[in-house]
Amino acid sequence: MSHLTISHVSKRFSANEVLGDLNFSVGKEEFISILGPSGSGKSTIFNLIGGLLTPDSGEIWLEGINIVGARGAISYMPQSPSLLPWRTVLQNVLLAAEIKGKKDPVKAIEMLNKAGLGDYIHALPDQLSGGMQQRVAFIRALLSPQSLICLDEPFSALDELTRLEMQKWLLAIWEEYRRTIIFVTHSIEEALFLSDRIIVLSQKPASIIAEFQVPFNRPRDESLFFDEEFLKWKRKIYYRLEK
Ligand SMILES: Nc1ncnc2c1ncn2[C@@H]1O[C@H](COP(=O)(O)OP(=O)(O)OP(=O)(O)O)[C@@H](O)[C@H]1O
Ligand SMILES: [Mg+2]
Repeated sequence: MSHLTISHVSKRFSANEVLGDLNFSVGKEEFISILGPSGSGKSTIFNLIGGLLTPDSGEIWLEGINIVGARGAISYMPQSPSLLPWRTVLQNVLLAAEIKGKKDPVKAIEMLNKAGLGDYIHALPDQLSGGMQQRVAFIRALLSPQSLICLDEPFSALDELTRLEMQKWLLAIWEEYRRTIIFVTHSIEEALFLSDRIIVLSQKPASIIAEFQVPFNRPRDESLFFDEEFLKWKRKIYYRLEK
């Protein structure tokens, strides 16, 4: 059984038809990336899975349960990090786990250290740079107890080197803890480096125009970026993206 199934989902905002007839499934512990033009409805898909919006038609199934309109079933990192300004970094990353009664400060501190935030554990969010705030929001999503994690461009505000460090860190964590991840990105390279499978969306009303099974073995490291095969795949996906 697949972990998540999106079945015939459509969504419009007044006259703006954003999602056509969207269908896809994600396997348990699979890592999939969604690529698509800006405004094609990627964040809308996450808002639908997260229960913040409801579709006009269609169903969303998580482990056999229809979660349309249900909040809290998944762990969701929105495109802009929504940290609570009055809570410290540590209190912020523990928030989702705390709501479910499962907080683990030792693991949280370990992850914050690994993400280069060791000196900021007791700082408030407005003392952090934008990229650091994004890392905090990202750790909070990873520490939440839900089995499906939706990450909306989590590394887009980071400079290239920090971004690569975070990608490697995410891969290492994911290989150790194996959760189901849906990852939205604008970077073909990032999608290829991280994912098992890549879904390409059309312009809105969005539907899936291509799907690629990523062939690279794990564990992966940055030498992959210079691999001939990697470049071939990058080209292949580039030409399927509508610009
Ligand atoms: N709550 C909302 N109310 C009205 N319109 C919305 C709402 N959310 C999204 N839209 C519209 O839906 C369309 C898709 O937006 P969405 O944010 O899902 O795109 P996206 O693929 O995530 O884009 P980007 O890559 O730029 O983040 C846009 O035209 C946007 O204006
Ligand atoms: Mg978006």
